[in-house]
Amino acid sequence: MKINGSPTRTIWLAKDGWAVEIIDQTRLPHELVTVRLESLADAAHAIKAMLVRGAPLIGATAAYGMALAARANSSDLALTVAYNILHATRPTAINLKWALDEMIAALGKVPESDRVVAAYARAAEICDEDVAINSAIGDNGATLIKAAWDKAKAKGAERVNVLTHCNAGWLATVDWGTALAPIYKAHDSGIPVHVWVDETRPRNQGASLTARELNWHGVPHTVIADNTGGHLMQHGMVDLCIVGTDRTTRLGDVCNKIGTYLKALAAKDNGVPFYVALPSPTIDWNVADGVKEIPIEERDVTEQTHMTGKTESGAIVTVQVTPDGSPAGNWGFDVTPARLVSGLITERGVCAASPEGLAALFPEKAA
Ligand code: MRU
Repeated sequence: MKINGSPTRTIWLAKDGWAVEIIDQTRLPHELVTVRLESLADAAHAIKAMLVRGAPLIGATAAYGMALAARANSSDLALTVAYNILHATRPTAINLKWALDEMIAALGKVPESDRVVAAYARAAEICDEDVAINSAIGDNGATLIKAAWDKAKAKGAERVNVLTHCNAGWLATVDWGTALAPIYKAHDSGIPVHVWVDETRPRNQGASLTARELNWHGVPHTVIADNTGGHLMQHGMVDLCIVGTDRTTRLGDVCNKIGTYLKALAAKDNGVPFYVALPSPTIDWNVADGVKEIPIEERDVTEQTHMTGKTESGAIVTVQVTPDGSPAGNWGFDVTPARLVSGLITERGVCAASPEGLAALFPEKAA
């Protein structure tokens, strides 16, 4: 995607050809700061402290983390230690494990002396594959937005309204995004798409990141409080929902940012289609029941008790919003059962959120 007209990815190799550069997403939306990763520890910190976040970008960063680790020591033992350190950074998004497994598989095939070159090559491929997958998701999802627009236009509407939750855009991936890719493609093709952006407490990935990138790209949008979606749906103001996912099970249960489940319930109650944009590395073929089997990250409660923002004078400050002494809870994700999902938008097409739907598109994996 473009920032001020310049094509930009979220992760890239530095000019020296070995260090890795990222956008520090903890500084958005008010500051655009890049950070240089030079070691396994830097990569692990970037993921854990959410300088990078979003399931596909976590995977891409972990892949480069393995390359940085291999640069320091490419023995089997060192790579196993690196795998474990990176794997422990965030528990819910399965792309992390997927990317680490891909790296171990690639490095296992070559002698120790060739591992650094092989690691950088596979990490670069993982990034390029992510871009291609998301672009295809964009094409497949844009047809759904086009159909919703045709329907809305026939009723006299002037725009098609898509609701999204959290940030499943360009910033959550290497490029394009998952849930936002169809929106960008629809917008770029001239469809008058407008996005309702859930603020997505506690970390405000919607208000801070989704709004930031839609704003950069010029897509009309409105930031809403997390509890607003149901009201908008009751009043016919949402044509479809598209959200991302951090892990989807082989039965089609969708784990995504906390609050997604409530939006899916409201969508079901109001007959609003609820789609999930799903890159294939986000499918966990080893898991069936998402509610019982997916580990849900519990994060530091200061994300709930405090908020960071810009004052009128331009200073970035953090303030406490809860009373001293009130305990808080901070679950990062929830699971939307497959029965509430209208369809999964994948790089190979749109399918039902069901074992049959997924198996039809990915027979080699389902087997
Ligand atoms: O905690 P985060 O910011 O890493 O959460 C990930 C997300 O932004 C979402 O859950 C997203 O919808 C899935 S990642 C494309």
